[in-house]
Amino acid sequence: MSVFRTKSVERSIRETDEPGNSLRRELSALDLTVFGVGVIVGTGIFVLTGEVAKKSSGPAVALSFVAAGIACALAALCYAEFASTVPVAGSAYTFSYATIGELPAWIIGWDLMLELALGAATVAVGWSGYAKILLDDMGIHLPTSVVGEDATFNIPAMLIVLAVTALLVTGVKISSRVNAVIVTIKIAVVLFVIVAGLFFIKGGNYHPFVPKAESSPDLHGGKAPLIQVLFGYTPSTYGWAGIIAGAAIVFFAFIGFDVVATAAEETKKPKRDLPIGIIASLVICTLLYVAVSLVVTGMQNYRHLSVDAPLAEAFKSVGHPGFATIISVGALAGLTTVVLILMLGQSRVFFAMSRDGLLPSWLAEVHPRFGTPYRVTIIIGVVVALIAGLVPLSALAELVNIGTLFAFIVVSIGVVVLRRTHPDLPRSFRVPASPVVPILAVLACGYLMLNLPVETWLRFVIWMIIGFVVYFLYGRGHSRVGKGRAESS
Ligand code: ALA
Repeated sequence: MSVFRTKSVERSIRETDEPGNSLRRELSALDLTVFGVGVIVGTGIFVLTGEVAKKSSGPAVALSFVAAGIACALAALCYAEFASTVPVAGSAYTFSYATIGELPAWIIGWDLMLELALGAATVAVGWSGYAKILLDDMGIHLPTSVVGEDATFNIPAMLIVLAVTALLVTGVKISSRVNAVIVTIKIAVVLFVIVAGLFFIKGGNYHPFVPKAESSPDLHGGKAPLIQVLFGYTPSTYGWAGIIAGAAIVFFAFIGFDVVATAAEETKKPKRDLPIGIIASLVICTLLYVAVSLVVTGMQNYRHLSVDAPLAEAFKSVGHPGFATIISVGALAGLTTVVLILMLGQSRVFFAMSRDGLLPSWLAEVHPRFGTPYRVTIIIGVVVALIAGLVPLSALAELVNIGTLFAFIVVSIGVVVLRRTHPDLPRSFRVPASPVVPILAVLACGYLMLNLPVETWLRFVIWMIIGFVVYFLYGRGHSRVGKGRAESS
């Protein structure tokens, strides 16, 4: 039994038609783009912009967004080719199973939990922070122990996760309609920030656009970016290194375009619609981020930006608290869709893993009426609600990033492997200039990973070791491919 046994692409596609184990195909390219934008625009732009501008990049946070966007665009091209070739649920997990082998696929599935489940929990806690602002505006003052980002028992964060779980169980179509309405509100608010904010920009706030590098005592020990430790630099903030360190954080703002690929099995014409959905949502978001970050750092000096609600606070700083309330409502709506789609992605990855026998296969049953994988969805909902309710998550956004970047690297390598092992498979979308683009994607994502803190790397390595142990104790012996129940590749 080799841990590098693969599951053939043809078999992956065929298994999606097994009765009782298949998902409905009802999503279009537009649905996918809305899904993409719905999950991409969230905590990254609404919260992290302020923190990164203030502590790492200055007004050049716009360049951090560009750098992270370039790394994502390269990876997105690889995702699009993979998704158009292997249109089944499970995203990077499925892709690696078809190409590199079972153990790497398991590792990826395990790794994706960092991105999807932990990401959903992180955003739910951010949601609670905005809920607190609005409740305060309405005169309802709950204690900070049960609401907001510092709560010890975070009731709103748990409630939003459970509400989203209920939506997902009742069917992807209903949730994608709800999603479309909320995404519209969110984008309207983002455009509002850009257009209204233009009138309050002061040119002086852009000087210096790239603040001079400063050594920072806060960055010692495990908090220093790995790359600075490896090369023995004195840890510093701002300057060009600050822009890249900032890019490794605002990368969080782009997470989600890859989740579009996890809905492959529910897409009407996956070969055409998936590449469109992935690339369109990424391009739209990059343009919005650059515009928002330029406007916000133009409205308020970067050193004074809020780290909790920078977009809303920038309007308060120019004397428009009413605008700030509108923005908070939009942020709340926006973060809801992010939680929704991250959890959708997580349930589909789990679904694919249990259908393959790497997790208990009773998890993979779909609901007779709703046609959704309700068992995995409910289990994930409860776990994410508990994490969101009980765990303080600020540092964990970095853990989400490292896990996601790792997945991007595996997918980019997978594209090149699949071109060699299955050169004749129909691909409606092909990465231009392969293998140059996949190699650039690996280098760009790897470079961002190196810019994350040492302690994040340690947590990441520990999580992956746990996954390794679980595979050898359970998945290896229960794998359907391993048992040879169906014909193998
Ligand atoms: N990209 C998503 C966000 O910014 C995860 O919240």
